[in-house]
Amino acid sequence: MTENNTQPAYKIVDHTYDTIVVGAGGSGLRATMGSAEAGLKTACITKVFPTRSHTVAAQGGIAASLGNNTPDHWTWHMYDTVKGSDWLGDQDAIEYLVREAPQAVYELEHAGVPFSRNDDGTIYQRPFGGHMQNMGEGPPVQRTCAAADRTGHAMLHALYQQSLKYDADFFIEYFAIDLIMEDGECRGVIAICLEDGSIHRFRSHAVVLATGGYGRCFFSATSAHSCTGDGGGMVLRAGLPLQDMEFVQFHPTGIYGAGVLITEGARGEGGYLTNSEGERFMERYAPSAKDLASRDVVSRCMATEIREGRGVGAEKDHIYLHLDHIDPNVLAERLPGITETGKIFAGVDLTKKALPVVPTVHYNMGGIPCNYHGEVINPTKDDPDSVVPGLYAVGEAACVSVHGANRLGSNSLIDLVVFGRATGLRLKDKLKPGTSHKPLPKDSVDMALGRLDHFRHASGGSPTAEVRMDMQKTMQKHCAVFRDTETLAEGTKLVAKVNERMNDIDVTDRSLIWNTDLIETLELDNLMAQAVVTIESANNRKESRGAHMHEDHPDRDDANWMKHTVTTFDGWGGPDSARGSGKTEIAYRPVHEYTLSDEAEYIKPKKRVY
Ligand code: FUM
Repeated sequence: MTENNTQPAYKIVDHTYDTIVVGAGGSGLRATMGSAEAGLKTACITKVFPTRSHTVAAQGGIAASLGNNTPDHWTWHMYDTVKGSDWLGDQDAIEYLVREAPQAVYELEHAGVPFSRNDDGTIYQRPFGGHMQNMGEGPPVQRTCAAADRTGHAMLHALYQQSLKYDADFFIEYFAIDLIMEDGECRGVIAICLEDGSIHRFRSHAVVLATGGYGRCFFSATSAHSCTGDGGGMVLRAGLPLQDMEFVQFHPTGIYGAGVLITEGARGEGGYLTNSEGERFMERYAPSAKDLASRDVVSRCMATEIREGRGVGAEKDHIYLHLDHIDPNVLAERLPGITETGKIFAGVDLTKKALPVVPTVHYNMGGIPCNYHGEVINPTKDDPDSVVPGLYAVGEAACVSVHGANRLGSNSLIDLVVFGRATGLRLKDKLKPGTSHKPLPKDSVDMALGRLDHFRHASGGSPTAEVRMDMQKTMQKHCAVFRDTETLAEGTKLVAKVNERMNDIDVTDRSLIWNTDLIETLELDNLMAQAVVTIESANNRKESRGAHMHEDHPDRDDANWMKHTVTTFDGWGGPDSARGSGKTEIAYRPVHEYTLSDEAEYIKPKKRVY
């Protein structure tokens, strides 16, 4: 017990750093490297071993306009990203992303990422959905730099090896419970060491949330089980909003029944989709880009085929992905990972037979609102761009917003390294190594330990796994590829009811040591808050844009809805109380309709066709 601690019975270990990064995926590691390189005393806290972070699962590649395989230019990449975002992306941030992208890829190459190669030795680039030449006019561009179909794996290993060379401390298998906030400023974070149950209070000038997405809100997702949106949960409990949470991306090709990702690179290498009539139906919906239209478009077309009775299989509820026409040598060289995945998870030799696939939750465009320096902003303030002192967010946890209403494939890996690096640069500008810290507030551990204690002793009638399944199935059914007034209205009520079950949760084990039931309950608490915020935000948006397809409002409505949703959630009432009211408050902030420099022209909204 230390003097700042009003909670009894927990052993608290204190640490002081300039920067704490929470999460060790691509963005967390890149921010850790940048902070340590700037001479700042830096620690990275991660609940899984760094090379097990979800970045490891990214397959097809990382977008940058290198122009190795086809002509390319950063302005074309910018155009495609804005169009892909359905004009919800902030164009200043998008310009920053695409201009920094080539340098970020060369940096990875020098860091040891074993990119696939062209005959002339340059980095191999493949086509990906929605990436075109000539300001969207086409033909498709080869912009996605690939290390076979294990690009994320290669990147994560290189980044972890690099970060070990800097003087950063790693706290591995530590679970971050809550932020330490004082008068609107972030002062650090509280974490539990999973191995021995000790509580760690990290005091810092900056906390960088790099905790990934919250895909596990849904029943079928390509996301790892660890994708529980822990940063978003902490932010909501700190009374801060999340942004654009209604925009949830469905990847067209998750393996039917297993949810495991089959990279869009498969279609980039010539794969195509067919329905029960053997028809290449994408030719009908997207005559120009076909199977390489943007993900939201392809997912909707697949869902339409299934709804109209042209799905394949006994229940006509999925689609075939064909790669069996491609030279097996090409598959072995370019797509070895999915060849193996097809065998293991679908029992299919994809050199001979089509793979059963279905649109599967893959990515959260929404997240913690921040600017392109990684600084968290609070758009509910008079100045919607006001920065929350001491708090940063990067990667899928963040909403910069470069992906707007729909992310283009391979723009996520580039987002990780560009904004991870940008955050490191911002920390270097703002912090002076070794600056003294003021004392922490007396109640610095109360929120975190109050929650921990609450769940640790929870003995209701609802096992965590059962409540989680209830939430996942409800979200899957009511907040999917197609939405409408009735489904969303019913869904918001049902999710609110599932949220109430958190008051009746049953945690079977009271221990603090390797108590997976307790940690999964804390994770569920994070997921649940984001499930409520997601479906409420979706219910409020009366238009269709990107991944949010509202059948009663089928068109994009720029006059009324070209704005970011900003949602707060009263989900936790404080250490001694039960959970909060479960109510959300929704506001909106303007999209940045301007570029960063005169070299980029603002891209005016127009109809989005592929
Ligand atoms: O399809 C894929 O390889 C996924 C890439 C991405 O989400 O960027």
